[in-house]
Amino acid sequence: MITLQTIEALRQQVSQWRKEGYRIALVPTMGNLHTGHLQLVDRARQLADRVVVSIFVNPMQFGQGEDFDSYPRTLEEDSRKLEQHHTDLLFAPTVAEVYPRPQAEQTVVKVPGLSNILCGQTRPGHFAGVATVVCKLFNMVLPDVAVFGEKDFQQLLVIRRMVEDLQIPVEIVGMATVREADGLAMSSRNGYLTPEQRAKAPVIYRLLTETAEKLQAGERDYKSLEKLACGRLENAGLRPDYFQIRRARDLQVPENGEGELVMLAAAYLGGARLIDNKTVTIK
Ligand code: PAF
Repeated sequence: MITLQTIEALRQQVSQWRKEGYRIALVPTMGNLHTGHLQLVDRARQLADRVVVSIFVNPMQFGQGEDFDSYPRTLEEDSRKLEQHHTDLLFAPTVAEVYPRPQAEQTVVKVPGLSNILCGQTRPGHFAGVATVVCKLFNMVLPDVAVFGEKDFQQLLVIRRMVEDLQIPVEIVGMATVREADGLAMSSRNGYLTPEQRAKAPVIYRLLTETAEKLQAGERDYKSLEKLACGRLENAGLRPDYFQIRRARDLQVPENGEGELVMLAAAYLGGARLIDNKTVTIK
């Protein structure tokens, strides 16, 4: 595995691979890799001849008072894991490499509509930070395909919309959330939980599953279902940010009826803000 820190060296390597006719996949990450990330890498391996993984804790997607400084940085361990999963190139740039100018002067990619609801409401500017850095990474690597996890459901929709709107020639592949045995979605932020908090955390997925069952059984009072789930999160010792039932394609409030819905949840537990989601098809 080659490890590079500069855009120039990355471009040289990738253009060499292109000349050789290789198809290139990118897996963007912020590091502290767990099985969920490694499954994205394995999928990328199946989809392309050369796999590039980026590790970059992107300051632009963290708000004031959020966990940018404490976000776990475990490059050596990550690098070993990526080697074991046959990554060809690890791109680990510095902040100055990605953002040579001060943030106030940085060109921003905004995806309106999808970015200011749900997580975007609580974390203003977050999705502009995500869209900007992912757009930059696409321009740096010029991948044929990029793989993202569905745990960040809203993020995945923002990225798909950005690619569509800006006509970026890359295929976006989403992959199912990888869970611990008790249902908790794998996340680097699970590491912030104490053992006691960790034992409470699976309630989020339990509520998503129970609510899906109720929807499938014909319940359509979305507001009551959401309220009930928030109350149950509170009773379990979490502080819910939201529990919402939305249309899966655009995250708008569903009109009564059918189609593909998604339940999205975000809740604070100790020092962690946990998110999860589950799609359900209503016939
Ligand atoms: O999902 C993440 O880890 C990040 O939001 C991403 C897509 C790597 C952009 O920084």
